Amino acid sequence: MIIRPFRQPDDDEGVRALDRSFTTVNIYRVIQTPLSFTLEQVPVHPAVTKEFPFDADFGGGHEGEHSLVAEDGGSIVGFTAFTHERWNRRTAVWHLYVAPSHRRQGVGSALVETVIEDAHFARTRCVWLETTSLAYPAIQFYRHLGFELCGMDTSLYDPAVNLLGETALYFSRSV
Ligand SMILES: CC(C)(COP(=O)(O)OP(=O)(O)OC[C@H]1O[C@@H](n2cnc3c(N)ncnc32)[C@H](O)[C@@H]1OP(=O)(O)O)[C@@H](O)C(=O)NCCC(=O)NCCS
Repeated sequence: MIIRPFRQPDDDEGVRALDRSFTTVNIYRVIQTPLSFTLEQVPVHPAVTKEFPFDADFGGGHEGEHSLVAEDGGSIVGFTAFTHERWNRRTAVWHLYVAPSHRRQGVGSALVETVIEDAHFARTRCVWLETTSLAYPAIQFYRHLGFELCGMDTSLYDPAVNLLGETALYFSRSV
């Protein structure tokens, strides 16, 4: 398995074909008081499946976006995209997906470690990302890599289309 820069247009099809969904039997519920938030792990039955949406411009939706793929035996098995923000010296990760056939084999870690290395060279101070309170597996993954919860936004997602109290969560890790 190698991590290499995403090449457009050659890699478009392989990246688009990645299954970006996850299924979980646990989620996080946000408990709010007037001046505090707590996250509580709760079981869900039946299991929840969610697929992360991909915009048409996944390979360059943000100004100065960098993208990497994980390739195994000629197939694309992972993808990440990120930007180095100059004004606050922060690297923002916009996409991270690993093919289900290759999960729990270190591919996601290799992609994130490459992003952190790139952030180091770009002299940013932390790597930041948004995920959702439903993404229990991804949250375990980020915490395993040393990311810490750094904020949330209870108003970002439309409750008319997002069920189970889905809330935006933000995680960051020092470079
Ligand atoms: C989240 C994701 C990128 C992780 O990629 P991965 O290649 O499976 O992760 P790794 O193999 O590097 O995992 C490293 C460690 O993270 C933790 N981890 C990863 N997936 C986990 C899961 N489903 N449940 C609990 N812990 C998990 C484990 O500690 C794991 O180490 P271990 O396998 O030795 O126990 C992948 O599951 C994925 O693409 N999910 C769907 C899309 C998604 O949720 N993307 C994130 C959007 S914010």
